Amino acid sequence: MPASSGTTVSIWMDTAHIPDRQALTTDVTTDVCIIGAGIAGLTTAYLLAKEGTKVLVLADRGVGAGETERTTAHLANALDDRYVELEKIHGIEKAALAAGSHTAAINQIETIVRSEKIDCAFERLNGYLFVPEGESNDILHRELAAAHRAGLTDVTIETRVPPNTFDMGVHLQFPDQGQFHPLLYLKGLADAVEKMGGIIHTNTHVDSVKGGETAVIKTANGHTVTAASVVVATNAPINDNATIYTRQAPYRTYVVGLKIPKKTLQKALYWDTQDPYHYVRVDDSQKNHDVLIVGGEDHKTGQANDAGLRYQRLETWARKRFPAATKVLYHWSGQVLETVDGLAMIGRKPLDTDNVYIITGDSGMGMTHGTIGGMLIRDLILGTENPWADLYDPGRKTIGDLKEFVKENANVAGEYADWLRPGKHDDVPMKTETGMVVRRGTKRIAVYCDAFGKKNELSAVCPHKGCIVHWNSGEKSWDCPCHGSRFDRYGTVVNGPSSRNLVMIEAD
Ligand SMILES: Cc1cc2nc3c(=O)[nH]c(=O)nc-3n(C[C@H](O)[C@H](O)[C@H](O)COP(=O)(O)OP(=O)(O)OC[C@H]3O[C@@H](n4cnc5c(N)ncnc54)[C@H](O)[C@@H]3O)c2cc1C
Ligand code: FES
Repeated sequence: MPASSGTTVSIWMDTAHIPDRQALTTDVTTDVCIIGAGIAGLTTAYLLAKEGTKVLVLADRGVGAGETERTTAHLANALDDRYVELEKIHGIEKAALAAGSHTAAINQIETIVRSEKIDCAFERLNGYLFVPEGESNDILHRELAAAHRAGLTDVTIETRVPPNTFDMGVHLQFPDQGQFHPLLYLKGLADAVEKMGGIIHTNTHVDSVKGGETAVIKTANGHTVTAASVVVATNAPINDNATIYTRQAPYRTYVVGLKIPKKTLQKALYWDTQDPYHYVRVDDSQKNHDVLIVGGEDHKTGQANDAGLRYQRLETWARKRFPAATKVLYHWSGQVLETVDGLAMIGRKPLDTDNVYIITGDSGMGMTHGTIGGMLIRDLILGTENPWADLYDPGRKTIGDLKEFVKENANVAGEYADWLRPGKHDDVPMKTETGMVVRRGTKRIAVYCDAFGKKNELSAVCPHKGCIVHWNSGEKSWDCPCHGSRFDRYGTVVNGPSSRNLVMIEAD
């Protein structure tokens, strides 16, 4: 997504450039059509192409220009949702399968980096989990035991703080985690896919996906792709149905990048146990300084509009623990999809034909979940047995944490009340470069006032399932508080599940 569209710029967008590929300009037939050129789509394309499958990738923006360019790229088998919780929901055996799959994903990334010689600063390092100041360490002891039961027997509890870190107190140490530059990795993956004969078209928006004996994919510029199988790796599936969007919730998460002197902080992945938690890593690719990357302050998409305050809180949190940090060099935000049972949804799309696959529900761990997605979908398409198939099956019967399911869906139901709220009148004065939803009769209008004071009007009704979109001043976008569809200030869709834009309202 170009910075000019009003979005913030991540450190990766600032330090890498991936050339656009040509848009699709003709009808075409292939073995497997993959929609999405983020980590999930390109890993799938790479692994299938490696097996001799003819792959075609379609993406509506550039390579990596979805959530992958906004990640902080921790590669971890220390799950965000914690092994204690996972074990409660899925049992010990499945928690162990999940642990093994994330370990395998880091190994898979390392194998690809080495065999394709991708220069993306991949490295192995420790992960440290600690509790916020003044809180009990009990959670660490319980998590240690659960991680061991899940097979991660090399996780240890430590009382001495490692050199060049900060006073995090007692903490868990997860060895052999990883980090890399996500866009340089994708650049290498895309090049490797093409070297093997795969085809990638960017700037090609897909309008519809239909399974059947042959899958049919229709693009917004009027072309049709037919394929034996289709993989929808659009982060939130654009061919969504209630079996998916009722079981995952979109959250906005924030990141700041601060300048720190070189080698002030040991390179490692740091996480605390707060809810929402803070996540920290270091980028040392710049010549004269390192960048301390600190994330957190999550909230449900579209349900807060205080990005400035959240960046400020992250900065304060970071400065307290890392006093050597100086200037804020970057701030950006992105979206993660939290499933009700803490695991991604990867496999055949429920209530569809057998040749339609999805990868979604990153649960804040989309680097590894996306890679697991590629490995699992490759096996499902090629008919190879895979031990993770049931664990990640999007149609899995265990609804997971029922309380979480009810809570998230009650929250969505509450958002429809926007239709009943009185709302602002449409003659309210507006500042330039801001947006506001106003009421005109029974209609709800999303008004964006541009830099010159010109008002652009759109229907505020989300084309997915009819919630009212909210203005996001941090990214200058319209965000749907129900299932996370997002639209730029002029209404073009930038995040699914909607594949359609907001409807334009002609000026009177
Ligand atoms: C701030 C932040 C920090 C994070 N930190 C971590 C972390 O430390 N570790 C970790 O593992 N994960 C992390 N994540 C999560 C991770 O970044 C994402 O889950 C992951 O990048 C998602 O990859 P993806 O390939 O599924 O989707 P995306 O990267 O979003 O790619 C989706 C693709 O689909 C395409 N697309 C969408 N709709 C259409 C359409 N209609 N037609 C054609 N193409 C379409 C887009 O153009 C894009 O190419 C973080 C996320 C955020 C936002
Ligand atoms: S994303 Fe579902 S109604 Fe908007």
